[in-house]
Amino acid sequence: MTLNADTDFWASANTHLTRYGPSFESVIIERAAGSFVYDADGRAILDFTSGQMSAVLGHTHPDIVATVARQMGAVAHLFSGMLSRPVVTLAERLAALAPGLGRVQLLTTGAEANEAAIRMAKLVTGGHEIVAFAQSWHGMTGAAASATYSAGRRGYGPAAVGSFVIPAPNAYRPRFKTADGSNDWQTELDDAFALIDSQSTGNLAAFIAEPILSSGGILELPLGYLAALKRKCEQRGMLLILDEAQTGIGRTGHMFAFERDGVVPDILTLSKTLGAGLPLAAVMTTQAIEQAAFERGFLFYTTHVSDPLPAAVGVTVLDVVARDGLVAQATARGDRLRDGLLSLQQRFECVGDVRGRGLLLGLEIVVDRQSKAPGFELGARIMEETMRRGLSMNIVKLPSMGGVFRIAPPLTVSEAEIDRGLEIMSEAIQAATNGR
Ligand SMILES: Cc1ncc(COP(=O)(O)O)c(C=O)c1O
Repeated sequence: MTLNADTDFWASANTHLTRYGPSFESVIIERAAGSFVYDADGRAILDFTSGQMSAVLGHTHPDIVATVARQMGAVAHLFSGMLSRPVVTLAERLAALAPGLGRVQLLTTGAEANEAAIRMAKLVTGGHEIVAFAQSWHGMTGAAASATYSAGRRGYGPAAVGSFVIPAPNAYRPRFKTADGSNDWQTELDDAFALIDSQSTGNLAAFIAEPILSSGGILELPLGYLAALKRKCEQRGMLLILDEAQTGIGRTGHMFAFERDGVVPDILTLSKTLGAGLPLAAVMTTQAIEQAAFERGFLFYTTHVSDPLPAAVGVTVLDVVARDGLVAQATARGDRLRDGLLSLQQRFECVGDVRGRGLLLGLEIVVDRQSKAPGFELGARIMEETMRRGLSMNIVKLPSMGGVFRIAPPLTVSEAEIDRGLEIMSEAIQAATNGR
């Protein structure tokens, strides 16, 4: 009899917890350490989603545990207009990592950071129209939810006036093709902005984008795309907001994903990975934009703005990432993981595509490679089989796409853990497809 079947626990959970998403896992998690979470039977489950794509240092990292204990004993929370050393230190450290983005506001969640970014863009440009990708996820609150298109739009009344959308480039399922059959993203982008121009009432404020759309199925913006997008924004007096909730802090093999493209956004939002699993977010911008916002009376005052406890955690996250060379490690371990996924693709017909960068990778499940018909049911079966064997992976299901596994282990993941994860995936796909 498994202790995960604790009837009192489940009766209480099923009576008292609001069902806020698709479903709950059927295990009870008692503790976590490194790349593993442990269920009620003490069974180790490899966590290849880093919690909710956040725990870049793995779980209960000793440096984070020590920082929380130390800072909690010193000062955790303050009046929002009071400053402490960890806040200024983290702002200075982030500014040094993102040249040009010298102003930093420290907040709590990803949605909240995007609210602040959008609010600032509206105030500074005088516009209110916000453009995003049709496969985006920027959060569950007002402006962030209005710019979120991958899920959750129906049933909540009107989105913000002036919410526009363009398709994200998808190399596996191109909408426009060049003569050699590859994705013609430039034509797609030109076409999309022609539509934006025809819908806009002349009040464009910002484009908000993820460099790799994660909830959208690990769609990577191809090299050159961000630069082209920035030009589109500049031509229209819009700001470019990059949401690096998942891609920031080393995950893609750069400290920030935008570094690969040599494009600095007007506003950068960080969350998830910055606190390595604790609630911490940052909104970064240029001195000029901050000055303009300040002159117009920028107000984004929250209970936990500039709280010392999460800020101290953020400083430790940056320390550990630098000390342990985790940005380079994301590339090396990511290459190992990608090679393993590519060999799964060679063995199994249902693996349609492998994509992503560093340790943020996607594996798209299709019914067959010819038709690329989405393999939602098969994906769900594979997910069940991986969990049964001790590997937690998350699958996103979106219209016009196969089920896509989002694979994002902690940056601290060992080679042996990657190999074990790949082994489990292989066994799970084998079991779910009966060897097909
Ligand atoms: C890219 C991106 N932005 C923003 C958010 C929202 O962050 P939070 O859930 O912390 O509000 C998410 C959450 O999944 C995300 O993936």
